[in-house]
Amino acid sequence: MNPPSWPTAEGRLSGSVDLDGREMLMLSSNDYLGLAGDDRVVAGAHEALDRYGAGIGLNPSIALTRVHRELADELSAFLGCESVLLFNSCSAANGATLQTLADTPDSLILSDEYNHASIVDGCRLARGRTKVYRHDDPDSLQGVVEGVPGTGRKLVITDGVFSMEGSIARLAELRSVADGVGATLIVDESHAVGVVGRTGRGSVEHHEADADTLRTGTFSKAFGAGLGGFLAGPREIVDEVTARGRSFIFTSPMPAATAGAALAALRIIRDDLSRLGHLAENVARFRAGMAETGWDLLDSRGPIVPVMLGDDERAHRVATTLRGLGVFTASFAYPVVPRGSARIRVQLSAAHTDDDIDTAIEAFAQAAQIESNYRS
Ligand SMILES: Cc1ncc(COP(=O)(O)O)c(C=O)c1O
Repeated sequence: MNPPSWPTAEGRLSGSVDLDGREMLMLSSNDYLGLAGDDRVVAGAHEALDRYGAGIGLNPSIALTRVHRELADELSAFLGCESVLLFNSCSAANGATLQTLADTPDSLILSDEYNHASIVDGCRLARGRTKVYRHDDPDSLQGVVEGVPGTGRKLVITDGVFSMEGSIARLAELRSVADGVGATLIVDESHAVGVVGRTGRGSVEHHEADADTLRTGTFSKAFGAGLGGFLAGPREIVDEVTARGRSFIFTSPMPAATAGAALAALRIIRDDLSRLGHLAENVARFRAGMAETGWDLLDSRGPIVPVMLGDDERAHRVATTLRGLGVFTASFAYPVVPRGSARIRVQLSAAHTDDDIDTAIEAFAQAAQIESNYRS
C-alpha cells in the first residue's frame, strides 16, 4: 500500500520555505506574525523541553506544569478576561465548550453557516439542538432564534475572523441579538488573536466588545507554537467546561515545550507591536499591487486575502501555475467554500519582505497572462 504523499518542507518556516528541495515563496501559512521560526519562540520551547521532558505524563485535569500556569495567567491578563483554560487544540476547546454548555435537549446553539468545521463538530457533540443562521447576518440570527421555542440555555457561536473569507464578524450586532434573547455569545478567535485589533487582542478588541466575551482560540496560527488551544472568559463558565468538557478531561494536554513556545510568542505579541504594523503594511502593499493585475479580491480585512476564481478547475489551475512560478498557494473548492466560489486563499505574514510581496504580485500578474492565453 502506498502511504499518502504531501509536499515535504525542510527547515524553519519564514516568508519562504524549502518544499521538495525547491525554495518557494509561502503564501499559504497561518504563521501571520512570522513567529513559528523566531529564535525566542524556539528557545521558549527548548527551555520547557529541557525542564519538563518530552511528556509530562499527566492528564490535564490532574496537574499541569508551571509553564502552562504562566501561559494561562498571562493570556488571561492579555485578553482582559477572568479565566483561561488550556486545550491541546482549538478544535478540542470548541468541542468541550459546546458539548458542556449545550448539554440538555432543550438547549439551543445558533451557529453561523460559515463557521469552522470544529464548531460544526462541537454542535454534533452537544445534546442540544443546532440551528444555522445566514453568514454574519444578525437579522437571520434573530429570525432563526424566534422560530425555535425552548426554554433551555442558548448559545450564539461565530468565528471572529472567517477563515475562508478573512472578514471580521459583526460582533456588536450579533451580541445585541444574543443579549436580546438571553443567549451567550462565543467567538472563535483562531484567525484573529495576535492579528486583529489595534494591539492584536482579536476581533473582540477590534469591535471594542466586552473583554470577558467567551472566546476560543489556537496557538497554532499567529502564535506559531505548532498546536494548543484555549477557552477564555468568565470564570463561572470556564469552570463549568473544566469540570465537564470531555475533550479537556479525557485527552492529553499540550506538551510543556508547546506551552513554552506559546508563552514566548505571547510575550512578543504583547510587548512588540512592530510585527503587527509590518503585517498591515504587507497587506496594504499586496492589495495595492494586486489591483493592477485584474484578479478579483474579496474585500477582507487583515492577512487573509481570498482571490476569487469561481470554478474549481480554474482555481486549481491557477494555484498550479503559481507553484510553477515559485509561489506556494492553496486553492479551495466546494465543500470547503460554497459552490461556484472557488478561490485561492492568500495568507500574508509579517515574515514577508517588500521583495516577497512584489514577487507575489508579479507571479499573479504572470498567472493572469497565462490564464488569458488558456481561455482564448
Ligand atoms: C476558526 C478556526 N477554529 C478552529 C481551528 C482549529 O484550530 P486547531 O488547529 O487548534 O484545532 C481553525 C483552524 O483552521 C480555525 O480556522
